[in-house]
Amino acid sequence: MSFKQEAKRKFPKWPIYDDEEIKALISLIKSGNWWCGSPGIHQGKNVWAFQEEFAEFQEAKRCIAVFNGTVAIESALLALGIGLGDEVIVSDFTFVASASAVVATNAVPIFCDIDAESLVMNVNEIEKLITKRTKAIIPVHLGGNPVEMDRLMEIAKKYDLKVVEDCSHAHGSRYKGKRIGNWGDAGTFSFQASKVLTSGEGGAIICNSDDLADKIYSVSDCGRSKNQYFYKHFIYGTNYRMSEYQAAILRTQLKKFPAQHALRNENAKYFMDKLNEIDGIRVIKPTPGTTELGWYVYPIVYEPEKFRGISKAEFNKILNRFSVPTDDPYPPLHGLDCFKNIDLRKGIDYSNANWGGEKSNDKYFPVVCEIYSRCIEFPHEMLLASKKQLNNVVEFIKSLK
Ligand SMILES: Cc1ncc(COP(=O)(O)O)c(C=O)c1O
Repeated sequence: MSFKQEAKRKFPKWPIYDDEEIKALISLIKSGNWWCGSPGIHQGKNVWAFQEEFAEFQEAKRCIAVFNGTVAIESALLALGIGLGDEVIVSDFTFVASASAVVATNAVPIFCDIDAESLVMNVNEIEKLITKRTKAIIPVHLGGNPVEMDRLMEIAKKYDLKVVEDCSHAHGSRYKGKRIGNWGDAGTFSFQASKVLTSGEGGAIICNSDDLADKIYSVSDCGRSKNQYFYKHFIYGTNYRMSEYQAAILRTQLKKFPAQHALRNENAKYFMDKLNEIDGIRVIKPTPGTTELGWYVYPIVYEPEKFRGISKAEFNKILNRFSVPTDDPYPPLHGLDCFKNIDLRKGIDYSNANWGGEKSNDKYFPVVCEIYSRCIEFPHEMLLASKKQLNNVVEFIKSLK
């Protein structure tokens, strides 16, 4: 079989599950405990157990499970006191939720350009964006690649800023020996369908302060407080609780994670080295100091002139036609219609933001725009394929020259 025919072989489909997930759901249904309740009352076992298991896996003191990764960011920001008129610095190269969660708190996201090699927030750009209104930073570990967290935390300390790490791509990543999510005040995760740990939808916040964890819990469970009367609502909060169904699946998926993570890491090294050897292809560079990488999506940047001038859309289409499941990465946030048009929330003044109207011009975000124009990404499940299949992809990309 030629490598072109071989390349047409299907890659593993995500999510991967077996009888364990089915048994977990049946057992939950039969138990009659269909919701997590509050501590000590109507308590379903899965959410509370998952919180402990995930905290242990991420090497954090506490974990609060919620129903998606967007409200995980929102809960952490609200518990940290971020609100009306505050500015929050966010990477410009991320899923919209990293910024829409800021908008949901009535604060204002401020977009930070990226580093051309690692594609994550360029920490050298942060200080230029700080104003009197800046209250927090949201570093996003894109594709699992850590932001330079030691430098970022120095800046946060200098200006007394809160830090919420968006770890939606970084389950299992580690920077300078410390698990991602433990550097800032809180780390938030998504368990949405495409993520390396998934229940279709789901989210969590980890942190190492009991006070903050209790506050995050209150925000996400109707303002309740741990072990207090059920109908006492101490602060403003809403219902962001994770469901027992989500947690039952996550607990089984978490058991499968270490073996998948190890295989992804082994194959990533093999695949990246081979891709890097192709003239005109550059793979994402792990941030110096990365000691473990989660490998969620992994972007590659190509030089069109070395590939007969084919556009990014064509490049993607050709690969997809040969069953190589590449995708377009996130469009930079400053150019999204919702930010260009400013009209996000009634009564909020966005006039000081570094986006909106003319300020959303690409020329103000040069690195991310240049990278985005030449960047495609592979999904993590490809890294669960055989080395032979990955090799076929490499040969196929070479044949496009
Ligand atoms: C970087 C990033 N942040 C936040 C989110 C939001 O997570 P969710 O879709 O679970 O709300 C996502 C999810 O796709 C994401 O990729």
